[in-house]
Amino acid sequence: MKDLNKIEQEVIKSLDKSLKEGDVLEIKNYYLGRKSGVITYLLKSIKDLSDGDKKKFAPQIQSLKEKTEKMIENKLKELSMSDISFKDLTLPNKKIRHGSLHPLTIVERKIVDIFTAMNFSVVDGPEIESEWYNFDALNIPEFHPAREMWDTFWIKKDYKKKDSKKRENFLMRTHTSPVQVRFMEKHKPPFQIIAPGRVFRYEATDASHEVNFHQIEGLMIGESISMANFKYIVENFLKKFFGDDITFRMRPSYFPFTEPSVEIDIKLPNSDKWLEVMGAGMVHRNVLKSAGLNHEEWQGFAFGLGVERFAMLYYGIPDIRLFYAGDLRFNRQF
Ligand code: DAH
Repeated sequence: MKDLNKIEQEVIKSLDKSLKEGDVLEIKNYYLGRKSGVITYLLKSIKDLSDGDKKKFAPQIQSLKEKTEKMIENKLKELSMSDISFKDLTLPNKKIRHGSLHPLTIVERKIVDIFTAMNFSVVDGPEIESEWYNFDALNIPEFHPAREMWDTFWIKKDYKKKDSKKRENFLMRTHTSPVQVRFMEKHKPPFQIIAPGRVFRYEATDASHEVNFHQIEGLMIGESISMANFKYIVENFLKKFFGDDITFRMRPSYFPFTEPSVEIDIKLPNSDKWLEVMGAGMVHRNVLKSAGLNHEEWQGFAFGLGVERFAMLYYGIPDIRLFYAGDLRFNRQF
């Protein structure tokens, strides 16, 4: 008797927990399955009982079977009713929330697309860089005051490879310019490339400074590539990105790795403020030499721009730190 009660409680409990038709059918099979159902087995064993026991238990087993059948039937009905929204195809579905790209990804892709349309190839380089590629090869030797333009995260001072006497300092690259050198070492001009990537600066953060941000480096080398070629490319690029109605200017500047060097300013429509957007210039002969190119034979321009700065101007974002705050209310707007 006790066991029969226990079985009934079990059935009630497991039906309560079932959320799908499939669960209920499994329960049905477990208790009432024709071959090895628990209750089916009890029914089959009635014939082996003594006459007294038969009288006592047969009706109870029979009633357990009927109750169980009823409960299962009811549960199946209940599930099919609550399932109605999936059957009625005219009802509106649950709203699906789409993910979206991060604004920096959108802007980086937009810039990359404009340059690849002008036949530039996309290349990359390491974020942990040697002092040589980040500084020396770019005409910024040790103790050169220009090193102060880049606040640097150094990895480990005076690291020496086991079998070498050479000092090899490593750092988190402060700009994407080292990719220029790495590319020129391995490829014969003419070529035109861009190198997007993350860079790092040892700086206090504020609305316009972050310890890491993104740049896109550009490099075009050939026999007679000049500033005129650069002017054409950069004007095309800026107008495709910001719109045809911007004005832009090249302003003399200084970078150790270019000579002459310029900075590019733009003026957005309805504004009379010049905004600095990128640095550029003709690649310095010392840089070509460091990369193993003959500077009598090859020349060209390089440029570098900040992706965050472009994104801030493009979307009107006031604070660079928003890009890294991970606030979905910000991220979902793009
Ligand atoms: N590497 C420079 C920086 O991080 C940006 C830059 C300026 C890159 C001029 C260039 C260039 O290639 O020609 O400030």
